[in-house]
Amino acid sequence: MLKVRKVVIPVAGLGTRVLPASKAIPKEMMPVVDKPVIQHVVEEAVAAGIKEIILVTRSGKSSIEDHFDSHYELEAELARKNKTALLAAIQQIIPPDVSIIAIRQAQAKGLGHAVHCAASVINDEPFAVILPDVLVNNVSAENNDLARMVAEFETSAAAQIMVGEVPVEKVQSYGIADCDGVMPAAGGSTPIKGLVEKPAQQDAPSNLAVIGRYILPARVMELLADGQPGAGGEIQLTDAIDSLLAEQTVAAYKMTGDTYDCGEKLGYLKANIAYGLQHAETAEGLKEFIASLA
Ligand code: G1P
Repeated sequence: MLKVRKVVIPVAGLGTRVLPASKAIPKEMMPVVDKPVIQHVVEEAVAAGIKEIILVTRSGKSSIEDHFDSHYELEAELARKNKTALLAAIQQIIPPDVSIIAIRQAQAKGLGHAVHCAASVINDEPFAVILPDVLVNNVSAENNDLARMVAEFETSAAAQIMVGEVPVEKVQSYGIADCDGVMPAAGGSTPIKGLVEKPAQQDAPSNLAVIGRYILPARVMELLADGQPGAGGEIQLTDAIDSLLAEQTVAAYKMTGDTYDCGEKLGYLKANIAYGLQHAETAEGLKEFIASLA
């Protein structure tokens, strides 16, 4: 049986949509409540059974790797002061059976190029891709879109691309799926006929947008190796998946959770409010604050 054990998380972007906040710190290290965005998505991957996390990174972003490393001085200090809960929180960021490695993307040639940088580590295994700008707010053992996508792939061997509906005037910001007029039910999958990156509104085959979660066979790495610049002059993951469609079934998986685009200001603020309303330490106070504003 095909097991999905690896995830590629591209983190080499410059974060221009959240400048100046992301000038000296990676946008992936900006906190949503008490964890950086990257920790939220790594936890999502771990909850879906992923054991190897492959970060595709660049210079100036080593704080992402540091976050998942041990911090001896801090740990010793917390232990000395008997701050056991905090000590556990920083020691248990990832379980001991999960490993994280980082690979450099030396040139910014697009998402497809970034994913291909991990080809030698993926080898001939299927893999997940998580775009860390997008937070999916449903991480729990019973309710995890990525876990459902993994299960669907492991049963059917068909690649799974997470999609959600977007307003038609926003289609040019996304990869858009042609599902032959079929609208998959939330939590369900349907075959994709074609995939196009950032189409003009009049050319979009639907309003079903790719939302930053993918389960892909190793074959995609070979298709990316031959990748030609597409939309925006960049090597696009969407184009490689569109080529894969000609060879095998690729399915659109319709998400059930709420998503927040933390790569832009409004999405980032919404994520903080949504997650803040779920956090034991902040929920009550934040609820009162929001009520006082209204
Ligand atoms: C990327 C993908 C696009 C996808 C989007 C949101 O675009 O290329 O297909 O719809 O993420 O997950 P970007 O936002 O990096 O321009």
